[in-house]
Amino acid sequence: MKPDLLYIPGLDTRLRDMLEPEFTLYDLPGEKDQAAFLAEHGARFTAVATSGTVGLPAAVMAALPNLKIVSCYGVGYDGIDAETAAARGIIVTHTPGVLNDDVANTAIMLWLATSRKLPMLDRYVRDGRWEREGNAALTVSPQNRTVGIVGLGRIGQAIADRLPPFGARILYHTRSPKDVPYTYYANLTEMAREADVLIVITPGGAETHHLINAEVIEALGPEGILVNVARGPVVDETALIAALQDGRLGGAGLDVFEHEPVVPQALCELDNVVLQPHIASATVETRRAMAQLVGDNLIHYFREGTVLTPVPECQHLT
Ligand code: NAP
Ligand code: 8YV
Repeated sequence: MKPDLLYIPGLDTRLRDMLEPEFTLYDLPGEKDQAAFLAEHGARFTAVATSGTVGLPAAVMAALPNLKIVSCYGVGYDGIDAETAAARGIIVTHTPGVLNDDVANTAIMLWLATSRKLPMLDRYVRDGRWEREGNAALTVSPQNRTVGIVGLGRIGQAIADRLPPFGARILYHTRSPKDVPYTYYANLTEMAREADVLIVITPGGAETHHLINAEVIEALGPEGILVNVARGPVVDETALIAALQDGRLGGAGLDVFEHEPVVPQALCELDNVVLQPHIASATVETRRAMAQLVGDNLIHYFREGTVLTPVPECQHLT
């Protein structure tokens, strides 16, 4: 018999296709019907599939008395309270590593597109302005710049690995220094002052909320570019918009936003930004690998009681 799996809505359909042959999927209904559904079925579930951004609301986790594993589609798991889960003996798993290349490529792509004003120049051609107005204005070269990476983990390192061909000087900021040949800054504002480009790739959650604040943005300055492929709330979006509007920040390449999928109209009206709908890992190949790992963690758990990729808070449970 296939094990029951509580499936949190809002996930990639690819994940559903991957899980359906192995599990009996129950969709968590919308808020109005949730309490009744959980009262009737809550005790049946030992496993949940969700993503880090969709998460697992505390009230839902609390209503699952027999929960043993939460398999997260994504490396970031800020939407799941992993400490409470670990305290209850529930293992949370995620999908580290398999998305490094696509997310790192996206960070570089956003930097280049912002620096060379790619969307604006694409519109310049489509709107017939090239023909009417002649050659477009010059842009700034990304070559030989100082790049500050905020968060030098798996993906941060993959971003750093891509920088040598750009002749970049690499700086980084994390809570603790790493054994790497780049310049460490314990103070993020000081690093921003030194950098031409800041690429943000930390986890989300309370610890990094508004890590990129008005002071950091100010320090990056009128020629500076901010790239965010981490989580929207890591950047103070109000301060960011104000600085972009006033020319106190040069430009921004954003894959993530504070209140996704809502993107402030003010950002959409700016020419010095490049916007993406949280798609850094969204390639066929990477999403397939992520879905496979979500399924493999669950299958391993049901067959052997162990998992492949637990989050750090739950490592001691496996
Ligand atoms: P990771 O290997 O755990 O790396 C995280 C890095 O962030 C570490 O270097 C860590 O160093 C640093 N960090 C953690 N807290 C910090 C803080 N308060 N201040 C400064 N640095 C801090 O994680 P990863 O696999 O590279 O993934 C990183 C994040 O990228 C994910 O958690 C997710 O939020 C985001 N992401 C986004 C997308 C997307 O679609 N846009 C896709 C994948 C991942 P220390 O511990 O020394 O501080
Ligand atoms: C996905 C992500 O967009 O892995 C992460 O942390 O943000 C992305 O890869 C997301 O998890 C899929 O919903």
